[in-house]
Amino acid sequence: MPDITAVTHAQNIRYDKQAEALYIIDQTLLPGEEREIRLTTLDEMVEAIRALRVRGAPAIGICAGYCMYLLARDAWTEDRQAFLRKLTEDGEALNASRPTAVNLSWAIGEMMAVARARLQEPREVLLDALYQKAVAIHEDDIAKCKAISEYGLSLLKEGDGVLTHCNAGPLATSRYGTAQGPFLLAAERGMHIRVFADETRPLLQGARLTSYELQRAGVDVTLICDNMASIVMRNGWVQACFVGCDRIAANGDTANKIGTSGVAILARHYGIPVYVLGPTSTIDMNCPDGDHIPIELRDPEEIKTLWYEKPMALPEVKCYNPSFDVTDHDLIAGIVTEKGICRAPYTESLAALFDDET
Ligand code: MRU
Repeated sequence: MPDITAVTHAQNIRYDKQAEALYIIDQTLLPGEEREIRLTTLDEMVEAIRALRVRGAPAIGICAGYCMYLLARDAWTEDRQAFLRKLTEDGEALNASRPTAVNLSWAIGEMMAVARARLQEPREVLLDALYQKAVAIHEDDIAKCKAISEYGLSLLKEGDGVLTHCNAGPLATSRYGTAQGPFLLAAERGMHIRVFADETRPLLQGARLTSYELQRAGVDVTLICDNMASIVMRNGWVQACFVGCDRIAANGDTANKIGTSGVAILARHYGIPVYVLGPTSTIDMNCPDGDHIPIELRDPEEIKTLWYEKPMALPEVKCYNPSFDVTDHDLIAGIVTEKGICRAPYTESLAALFDDET
């Protein structure tokens, strides 16, 4: 079986243990240039997440794990309470870089729990425990993405057309991806799935990243502008929509890249099922519904200039630039996690995913 993900980005986040150095592929430069950058300071880490150099909910979480390990090395002092205070402060600053994807606070919380539990251990033991946790977050994501991709693929049959929005592939995760994972698995198995990738305004993750990853992997991908989703559905070319997620509330309401809820509303009109694919770390059981999901507002310049900085609007025009929207749970046919496919009523099926953790 060919390893399709080998040509995508298994190394979007790379920790070099010998050099104690964290590298990410700068996603803002793709598809024109594939360049690794090194993240050393808290300011660089915050900037990289805020500027979308590393992006996609699971990838932000993975990156945050390694960031916390590096920050712990820098914060180290024999005064354990002072160490914990500094690491907590740094973790809060990192967490403030982007508000919507819950994977960021989840990963920081996981790292802080290790720091607290091992606080009285010698420096090397404590730091090693933090490093091992960061690696575990990374490796778990690889396994989760594979399982999500298998469950997602089980929803498709040979020749199906699928519409996707934004980027939820290897660049946004670790390997395979979530909403894009089934397409890569299908390609590995010689199954033909036709993918329609929304370009995803304003930052063009669909055009710059999704169509790039899928094309390189040999998937039959067609890039469309966001406002073309309706005609593609009306033409009968789409049998399902697969989208990623940044935070799923306890009732199944789902925040994902701006435009996702519009896709779901269109799909309802045409009778096409919409599936949300993501790891359980993206489910926030403390968030009752979509009204409680914090939505990131970004710089209006992202609308007024193209990615490559050509002005497209008068500088003084007012803009509203939410980075995510919420898709109501009743528009979602299923939520595909590494533990299986949840169906409505989501308050029950999502809660059941965590039964073994209480
Ligand atoms: O602003 P971005 O590019 O980080 O938004 C990404 C998305 O909305 C993805 O669909 C989501 O994070 C899932 S990635 C597996």
